[in-house]
Amino acid sequence: MSAYARMSAEERRAEYAKVQKTYQELKGLGLQLNMARGKPGKAQLDLVSDIFDLMQRPEDYVSDGIDVRNYGELAGLPAARRLFADILDCRPEQVFVGGCASLQLMYDTVSKAYTHGLLRSPRPWCREETVKWLCPSPGYDRHFKVTESFGFELITIPMTDEGPDMDAVEEAVKDPAVKGMWCVPKYSNPDGIIYSQETIRRIAALRPAAPDFTVMWDNAYCIHEFEGEYVPFPDILSLCAEAGNPDMVVEFASTSKITLPGAGISCFACSEANMAYLEKLLTVQIISFDKVNQQRHVLYLKDKAHTLALMRRHAAIMAPKFRCVADALEREIAPLEIASWRRPTGGYFVSLNAMPGTARRTLALCKEAGVTMTGAGATFPYGKDPQDSNIRIAPSLPPVEELEQAMAVLCTCLKLSALEKLAEG
Ligand SMILES: Cc1ncc(COP(=O)(O)O)c(C=O)c1O
Repeated sequence: MSAYARMSAEERRAEYAKVQKTYQELKGLGLQLNMARGKPGKAQLDLVSDIFDLMQRPEDYVSDGIDVRNYGELAGLPAARRLFADILDCRPEQVFVGGCASLQLMYDTVSKAYTHGLLRSPRPWCREETVKWLCPSPGYDRHFKVTESFGFELITIPMTDEGPDMDAVEEAVKDPAVKGMWCVPKYSNPDGIIYSQETIRRIAALRPAAPDFTVMWDNAYCIHEFEGEYVPFPDILSLCAEAGNPDMVVEFASTSKITLPGAGISCFACSEANMAYLEKLLTVQIISFDKVNQQRHVLYLKDKAHTLALMRRHAAIMAPKFRCVADALEREIAPLEIASWRRPTGGYFVSLNAMPGTARRTLALCKEAGVTMTGAGATFPYGKDPQDSNIRIAPSLPPVEELEQAMAVLCTCLKLSALEKLAEG
């Protein structure tokens, strides 16, 4: 197969007829497959379900002398704070352990900034004329939705191989209306990029005009390698403190993809000054989060080393799925030169850039053939990809056999939409 762009119009017409035939055959299979969201597959859920065998004895309900079944410990069980501090390489006093979702803690932080202001805010953000927010893109659609829902103006920051384009970030933060930035520093969603040391250093050393500029450091994939050894990662809290910005960052993490999404535990980590301020607001809102589940996780995960051993078992399930995606793209798409993609070694996604102007059409064709993918544009602010090119592939949910079929559909649809685009001239 030669590259589509170098074919004659006649060759392309013949190829289109051939690919169209394959498409109709795949459609005829009546598939119902889903690669839309980063959900663990059933084998991963089964792997960790022995977590429910714990806590059978009365002494299992006591942690550091605290009865976990009762009210108290707003910031979470000390043992759960130690567990996350171990994983994130920060101090337990900097960790607040919440409920079952880090997204809720992120939303709540933005919401508190809006209604009450943060530690360094001159006024609540609802009293600001405009609030602007930096969104490295492609990025996580749910992040963008949070800040969009508060009426902030979302500013797209291009992603590079090393993380967000820091020249653009340093320029943007000169505007006092720019109040914050989303970051997924390790195995970014969807590119799977690990921010470089230099990018992280520049983020920690930012000099924003807004005194309450906040880096939302969503370390959702902090220990989520599916290929190779665990990659150590710097502690952003100490880097910010060393750069004179101790209160500029709030870090987030959860066990959604370590144990169970929606039934795990989550945390934020920040300076102790931020912690004292946020606790004052949180104590009005809740007496204490679910410490029974926190204790279950402490007993199950134990510490970072033990948790990393569990992550290797997840990796054994995940790696063949990512290999299946990479192999299909390499075999079917690479020779045609109609898309580019990365080969991540951790996280939950593969980010593919189709020929500009074809992502929406490709995904519509996939849907028609029974394969649901993340909507076109979702990885950009306001759901609008200016290039109509980025496609997020989430291979974790379907078993490998189904994934092979789903990838056959995706590759066929990429070919059809590229040929249609080229025919337009
Ligand atoms: C970057 C990122 N952050 C957060 C989440 C959701 O985390 P949680 O389940 O802790 O709310 C996801 C889920 O896909 C994600 O990709």
